[in-house]
Amino acid sequence: MIYPNIAIIVAIAQNFAIGKNNDLLFHLPNDLKRFKKITSGHAVIMGKRTLFSLPKGPLPNRRNIVISDIPGEIFEGCESVYSIAEAVEVVKNEEIAFVIGGGMIYRQFYPIAGKLYLTMAHRDFEADTFFPEINFKEWKELSREDLFDEKNNFNYSNIDLERI
Ligand SMILES: NC(=O)c1ccc[n+]([C@@H]2O[C@H](COP(=O)([O-])OP(=O)(O)OC[C@H]3O[C@@H](n4cnc5c(N)ncnc54)[C@H](OP(=O)(O)O)[C@@H]3O)[C@@H](O)[C@H]2O)c1
Repeated sequence: MIYPNIAIIVAIAQNFAIGKNNDLLFHLPNDLKRFKKITSGHAVIMGKRTLFSLPKGPLPNRRNIVISDIPGEIFEGCESVYSIAEAVEVVKNEEIAFVIGGGMIYRQFYPIAGKLYLTMAHRDFEADTFFPEINFKEWKELSREDLFDEKNNFNYSNIDLERI
């Protein structure tokens, strides 16, 4: 079952790497702005470890939904859910909800998400956390912007995709 109102948003390297030592692999100022613009006013779904990796805790102006394995566990400023199915259920009336990581959560939502918002660096990164390998034949490109980041000195693309 694919949920058209569930979108994944992820910053990813060419080798599908997404994180190391519970942190992101690269910081692109433009990408933070893009992330804020796309997700503001909507629900965001994240794993517990990703919540703990956010420098200022829950994201402002968004409904923060955290997935935990420990029944009854709660986090300030967040709604807790205890399974992927429960996360899907609590956002069923949302026009769109964004899955914002991390690795464990992306792996479980990748087969059921209807949209994919990628920031893809055109180089490999060493990492301990990876996104599932994307088969681009299963996705239709809605928009694409090819960019260069001077600070990090690499090319990257913003690619918005919808499942075919
Ligand atoms: N590049 C990006 O765009 C991006 C975005 C976000 C995060 N990241 C990176 O990803 C890494 C963190 O990812 P991660 O895989 O370690 O952690 P994660 O996916 O953020 O969180 C994992 C936790 O979520 C809970 N969980 C996962 N699946 C569950 C399920 N089916 N039912 C109930 N609870 C479930 C578990 O909590 P319990 O501990 O309770 O078992 C698990 O420990 C960091 O390096 C972070 O920087 C990258």
